[in-house]
Formats: sequence, structure tokens, C-alpha cells
Amino acid sequence: MKHLLGTEDLSRSDALRILDTADEFSAVANRQVPKLPTLRGVTMANLFFEDSTRTRLSFEAAAKRLSADVMTFGASGSSVSKGESLKDTAQTLSAMGADIIVLRHFSSGAAHRLAHSGWVDAHIVNAGDGMHEHPTQALLDAATMRQVAHKEPRGEDLSGLSVVIVGDIAHSRVARSNVFLFETLGAKVTVVGPPEFLPPGVEAWPVSVTSDFDEALGSKPDAVMMLRVQHERRSEAVAWSAREYIRDYSLTSKRAQLLPIDCVVMHPGPMNRGVEIASEVADSPRSVILDQVRNGVSVRMAVLFEVWGDGS
Ligand code: CP
Repeated sequence: MKHLLGTEDLSRSDALRILDTADEFSAVANRQVPKLPTLRGVTMANLFFEDSTRTRLSFEAAAKRLSADVMTFGASGSSVSKGESLKDTAQTLSAMGADIIVLRHFSSGAAHRLAHSGWVDAHIVNAGDGMHEHPTQALLDAATMRQVAHKEPRGEDLSGLSVVIVGDIAHSRVARSNVFLFETLGAKVTVVGPPEFLPPGVEAWPVSVTSDFDEALGSKPDAVMMLRVQHERRSEAVAWSAREYIRDYSLTSKRAQLLPIDCVVMHPGPMNRGVEIASEVADSPRSVILDQVRNGVSVRMAVLFEVWGDGS
């Protein structure tokens, strides 16, 4: 594939190939010199118009492990403050030799626009566009589910697994990408949130929907994924009470006790401890939050390898 823009159109075979490649790349981290020559001579540019810790740094680590050169752009401190557009910024990075552009942007559809506008020839990887998609997060979540949630023998995909995704579904690109990918890979997904945090048209998604978190926990899921409230994307017109939200939707220690013993707890980060997840749960043995971060590097190595390998 030339670009990775979302999971909605990602086929099962493409997704499994990326996950299998990521499994192979994960072994590199344990080498004395954790590096492969695979992308030597290739330049990856991180083009981030929104803040990031995990995604930006793990793309950087992934590119370096594959011996690519890395350019990093953050909107803050750049000429965006002088009115420079996405087009001009991307063309500037391209003129400096960017072969792969990893784009995070606050506008839904920005990655599609950059990939299909003809502004640049580079391969485009969507690192999160507005409320739309965050495909590499979904792939690393699927990699983590495949690793830790499956009972032996480990399955090729996520068939037979069930996951409950809880929180601000309406404003979450992670939720959207995960729903599409998990469905493609055969998992059963339930989304949970207060009615005002469920997106219009959610009934057409391939998921079960409920506003009753305790009922969803009673369904004995294999994984529970907590999401933070996306205050930066929320309209102030939608009333929100932290106290009521914590009462009804926080994964507290008490609620975690209702989960099956082998059910794992996930969170894409950044976490708001004490809001959507209690600290004791985030730090408990059932938490795989740092496994998700770790898998992010190998999954992003696999994605860079995948897009670059497409006819380049
Ligand atoms: N999960 C995620 O996208 O985290 P960052 O915003 O820190 O990249």
C-alpha cells in the first residue's frame, strides 16, 4: 500500500501482514544494537500539527531502528504561526527530501487530503486526523490484544475475543479506528459511554452499544479499553459533570474486581488518572498499557516498511 490513511478500508490480509511483520521487528529491540538497515537512505518526516508523546516518539524510534533519517516538525515554534499552510509546509519538507510523511493534524480528513492532492509524492501515514482515524494506534492495540488476550493456542486474528471500549466515543479517532480494525479481525466490540458521548449514527457501526458500563463489564470481556474525555474536541454546549462521569464510567478498583481474572485493561494514553481510570487499575498486573506503548514501535516499523515497500 502506498499510504496508510485509516483502518476502515484496511483489508484483513493487509492488517495481518502488518501485525506479522511487527512481530518479527519486535525482536530487534532485544538486540545489542537494535537496528536494521531496511530503510537506509530513506527520510521520514514527522509532521505534527497537534501535540503528541507516544505517536511522535515511537515513529521516530521506529524509523531509526530501520536506519531511516528523521526530520521532525512540530507546529509550535514553526512558521505555521506566521500563517503557513499544510500544503506549503508539506511541500517544504518534501523539497528537503522527505520520502514518507507521518501526519498528525487537527482536521478530520487532512491525511487523505495530503495523500490525494498531488501536493507531494511522499508516502503518507495518518498519525491521527481530528475525530476521524488513528490507524497505527488501532494496529498496535490489535497487536497487543493478539499477544496478551488470546488463550493458548494464539489465534491468527482476534476471532473469539471481545473488547469493551469505554468513554468519549464520539470525539475519539482511536475508538473509530479500533472499531473498524477489530471488526475486520473478528473481535466482538461493545462501545460504552453516556448518550452525549456516543456519535450520531453509531447504530450503523458493527458494534453493540450501551450506556450501562456495569452491564458491559458483566459480559465477561477479554479486554476493556478506557478512553479519556477529549475536552479539546468537545463543544462546551454539551454538559459534562466530572463527578457523575467518574461515578458511572470510571474503571475503579471496585469495577475492575467484576472483570474475569484474565481480562486485560488497555488505554491508548494519555491517561487522566482518577477520571476514566483509577491509578491502582492502571498500575495493576492486568494493565497492558505499557505493552501497547512497546508494541507501538514495532507496529510503526512494520507500517513504514509496508508503505515504503510499495513500488518505491
Ligand atoms: N495514543 C496517542 O496517540 O498518544 P499521543 O497523543 O501521545 O501520541
